[in-house]
Amino acid sequence: MNYPNFTVISHPLIEHKLTFIRDLTTPKKGFKELVDEVAMLMAYEITKDFPLEEVEIETPICKTKTRIVSGKKVVLVPILRAGLGMVDGILKLIPSARVGHIGLYRDHETLQPVSYYFKIPPQSEDRDFILIDPMLATGGSAIAAVDKLKEVGVKNIKFMCLIAAPEGVKAFCEAHPDVKVFAAGLDEKLNENGYIVPGLGDAGDRLFGTK
Ligand code: PRP
Ligand code: URA
Repeated sequence: MNYPNFTVISHPLIEHKLTFIRDLTTPKKGFKELVDEVAMLMAYEITKDFPLEEVEIETPICKTKTRIVSGKKVVLVPILRAGLGMVDGILKLIPSARVGHIGLYRDHETLQPVSYYFKIPPQSEDRDFILIDPMLATGGSAIAAVDKLKEVGVKNIKFMCLIAAPEGVKAFCEAHPDVKVFAAGLDEKLNENGYIVPGLGDAGDRLFGTK
């Protein structure tokens, strides 16, 4: 899809793992592990523009100048519930990241997002935010989550999902053209119930065993 802020992260390991995530015979434990692994691989890719700053350290041999990631700590924001399934994988790469939470669920009849929780670290305006949710379906939940972050002054937001539907990409990219969106896979369409086809089913239910 031709939106400048939308990228599918293409990598053989991501595609391989996504196949087993989609497979309905993958048990809950394996599903969660694979979601974490794909989230970690994606995080490696989407943080490659993070700025660096020089620091001086001492190795066992001598003093030297080297570089570390500069700026304030990153904030990860999972959209509850299913976004929680991706947090641990990203924290393995960015252990110092703060974690906020946005509670939203999709009303099964209207498919509209219903908001029930919002908590992010204080003084977050200048931090880099990574919003995470496995599924971008209609786009309603991700759009509402970014609306909420922008309302409190957050400026630097990236959105990361495992699987996106074309309908959700279009809605999101038109609503928030300044927010970069990264997906591991772009699927065909939504079905009549608003599920992504072929997708992976209900991400929250598969992660938490609630169906
Ligand atoms: C799922 C998913 C997204 C949303 C995507 O959550 O994790 O948050 O649906 O759909 P949309 O793009 O059409 O808004 P769900 O509402 O099932 O809640 P849950 O994570 O609590 O199961
Ligand atoms: N939410 C999910 O968990 N799966 C979909 O396919 C769409 C929305």
